[in-house]
Amino acid sequence: MKIRLNRFLSMCGIASRRKAEELIKTNRISVNDIIIRDPAYKVDPEKDTVKIDGIEIKPERKRYIILNKPPFYLTTLGEDKKGRKTIKELIKDIKERVYPVGRLDYNTEGLLILTNDGELAHRILHPRYKLPKVYIAEVKGLIGKNKLKKIKEGTELEDGFAKPDDVDVLKYRKGNTIIRIVFHEGRKHLVKRYMAKFGNPVLKLKRIAIGPIRLGNLKRGKYRDLTEKELTDLKRSVGLED
Ligand code: URA
Repeated sequence: MKIRLNRFLSMCGIASRRKAEELIKTNRISVNDIIIRDPAYKVDPEKDTVKIDGIEIKPERKRYIILNKPPFYLTTLGEDKKGRKTIKELIKDIKERVYPVGRLDYNTEGLLILTNDGELAHRILHPRYKLPKVYIAEVKGLIGKNKLKKIKEGTELEDGFAKPDDVDVLKYRKGNTIIRIVFHEGRKHLVKRYMAKFGNPVLKLKRIAIGPIRLGNLKRGKYRDLTEKELTDLKRSVGLED
């Protein structure tokens, strides 16, 4: 797929798109050994050779991974001072410097996206893009119809009003309730704080989807690259189209 030359340069980490225009206008950029002066000139990153001052440049490879984070792993690629396990132990053989998009609590499991695409990461997390995050939670106590209605209406938390996009009761188990709950924002401990407010504290929490990306049957502790279709769908769902 062809992209504008100034965008290509910013993808290479050479300059912001505006600075890239300056480089282009001062005759420092060549495509297939021909100096190009038009920032809107289209290049094919797969096929064309782009040089700055005669030295070839290539975009950093973007990487998009999903991990099924097991419970009792910290969402960090650093070490934990207390010696707890971290997701770093699970992510092997990834050359790119991917980082987790948001975090799951230590005892929460499920879908975590890791990438080195900063713009996409920002959009996945920012409430403005309204990307739904879907959780399955086992909560204490039995949630009946009336209670469910209240839960759907939203409530005030210490950091402001919160209202799920959707909530359903899936089943009851030994006096507890399994619910599916969807939020498009990622405030800290949001699901746990929200349900505790209704007197139904979360006992177990798992994230099963982020927008169009589903955890599916990815095994606990395993990761994989997003498919092209998943990536296109994800980008589209936050208004990023190539
Ligand atoms: N909400 C929580 O309370 N915890 C998580 O890990 C994710 C969402």
